[in-house]
Order: sequence, then structure tokens, then C-alpha cells
Amino acid sequence: MSAPRQALARAPSNIALVKYWGKRDAELNLPAVGSLSITLDGLWTETQVCFQPQSHTDTFTLNGRAEPSKQARVSAALNLLCDIAQVDWCASVDSHNNFPTGAGLASSASGFAALVVAGAAALDLHLTPFELSVLARRCSGSAARSIFGGFVEWKRGELGDGSDSHAIPLIAPAEWPLRVVVAMTSQAEKPVGSTVGMNRSFCSSPFTTSWIEEQDADLDGARTAVLNHDFEALAEVSEHSCLKMHALAMTARPALLYWNAATVDCIQRARELRASGVAAFFTIDAGPQVKVICEPAVAVRVATALREIPGVVEVIECGLGDGASLLPLRTAACA
Ligand code: PMV
Repeated sequence: MSAPRQALARAPSNIALVKYWGKRDAELNLPAVGSLSITLDGLWTETQVCFQPQSHTDTFTLNGRAEPSKQARVSAALNLLCDIAQVDWCASVDSHNNFPTGAGLASSASGFAALVVAGAAALDLHLTPFELSVLARRCSGSAARSIFGGFVEWKRGELGDGSDSHAIPLIAPAEWPLRVVVAMTSQAEKPVGSTVGMNRSFCSSPFTTSWIEEQDADLDGARTAVLNHDFEALAEVSEHSCLKMHALAMTARPALLYWNAATVDCIQRARELRASGVAAFFTIDAGPQVKVICEPAVAVRVATALREIPGVVEVIECGLGDGASLLPLRTAACA
């Protein structure tokens, strides 16, 4: 009888400043464009994976509860790992998020990065960070970036098999320790997830071609801004990329409007702050939350301003953090 193989990993969430929106290959989860993100230190998933060679079913719990609707994606990720290890095993997966799931805070990025890192270690695969990033990408595109810390670029890649479509680290968090203030304007799970949202936008928005054509220039601008610690330049290109992504969503058929009234008020407040000389800019993913990136010296002022907005239900502040890592096991034996 083979012993269970298990490992525990923690992976952070990340927020794109130059957005990923649209796939060039849905099967391999290959992006139509590259993207650039920051890894957060305050929002993370911890996942324990336990392969049981004798078991015939995978199980998945999130925050202590079975999640049947998410089981298929988890099993697909486990299958990718088992294919590499050349085994046909099932696993129990136990995940915990320290922030709301599916509410536009990139829980799929942290979740799948943690799952891949823990699963690969449990199977003793000895993969490089780039290989882990490729695997995480297969599970959820933005998870490719959560393998690394600080400022991260996910390369679109050119190869048909996707082996060159992985993230790379640009600069470490300590090199430019910006802060992120998240204004939560709803804690509900979003009605249209990012996979459906980006596919619909990509197929039906009249702006898809220009989105693709302009992305390399946006990435060059953001990368240069990051390497030069040029806050103004990063703010300008990040807000531009965010608004373009949402323009694609809004002009999809049927249209996708991820924002609510408080989202718009937060955008306006961030713009007013920056116009008055406060080093802060906004970004928004496939949900109604507004993330304001700012210099550490103004973080309290930004948080206070966002808290005052009617409809903001919670404000979370965090910094930039490290990428995914293994942790010592919490429970010695598999459940
Ligand atoms: O990785 P997915 O499939 O959850 O897509 C993420 C899409 C955005 O968060 C809106 C943009 C991004 O680059 O993270």
C-alpha cells in the first residue's frame, strides 16, 4: 500500500495593472495579450493537497465546506499534475482564503497558484518556477503571475504549446514598496466570471482589434515605468488599460457592466486625489471593487477618502508581497 503524498502551499493574490483580457487558445488557456501585475501581501490562499493512491475520487473543500461547483476545475488541475508524474491518483484538496472568494479580488489566481505549488510538491515533481507558472496558467490565466512576488509580467508567448507563456518577475516588492487600498463595494460573488466575460467581450466587442494592437505599447510603457519607479507614468498607463478592458466588457453583446454606483464614485475620488497631487491611481478587475495603488505616505489618506464613499462596505489595505511558497504541513495525515 503506498503512503499518501501531501504538501501545503500559500499563494498570494495579484492585481493586473496592464490587463489580461481575451484568449488566443481556450484549451491551453493562452492569452491574446501579455499583462503586468503586482503581487499582494495581504490576500492569500493556503491549500493542502493530499494524493491518496488508493482513492478513486477527488474532493475539494474551501474554507471548510465542500464546493461541488468548483470540483471540476480542481480535478482538471490535479490531472495536469498527475499526467506529468505519470500516475493516476486522486487527491483531497483543502483550501482556505483569507478574503472573499469570487468577488473580484483574484481568488482564482491565488487559489490555483497554491494548488499547483502544493500539488507539484506532493508529487515530488521538482518543477522550475516558470514550469509552475505555465501549469498555474493552464488552470486560471492570472494564476501564472501569483507564482512570483513584486512586479510581474506574464508573457503572451508565441509557441503553440504555450511553454513560453509564463510569468517573469520584474522587480522585488522591497524595491518599490507601493501600497494597495481596496474599496469593497459588494461582497457578492460576481454574476459573470472572468472566463465567460473575457470570451464574450473578445468575440463581440467592436474594439477587440485595437485592444490587441495597443497592448505591446502599454506593456512597454508600464515595464519602463516600473523599472524607473516612475509613479506618474505607471498611473497613466494602468488607468488607461483598466478603462480599455472595461470598455471591451461594456461593448460586448450582451453587455457586461461590472461596476456599481460606488465603483464610479471611487474612480472619481481616486482621480480627484491624483489631480490634487496625491500619488494614487485606480484599477478594477472583473467585479465592482476598486483597487487604489498609492505611495506609502498617502495610504492612510486614500483609505480614509474611500471609506467615506456611500456604498463602500469595507476597505482593505495591503502591500506588495512575495510569490507562492511551500509551508510546513499543518496536519500530519491526510483527512
Ligand atoms: O485569470 P482569470 O481567468 O480569472 O482572468 C483575470 C482577468 C482580470 O482579472 C480581469 C485581468 C487580469 O489580468 O488579472
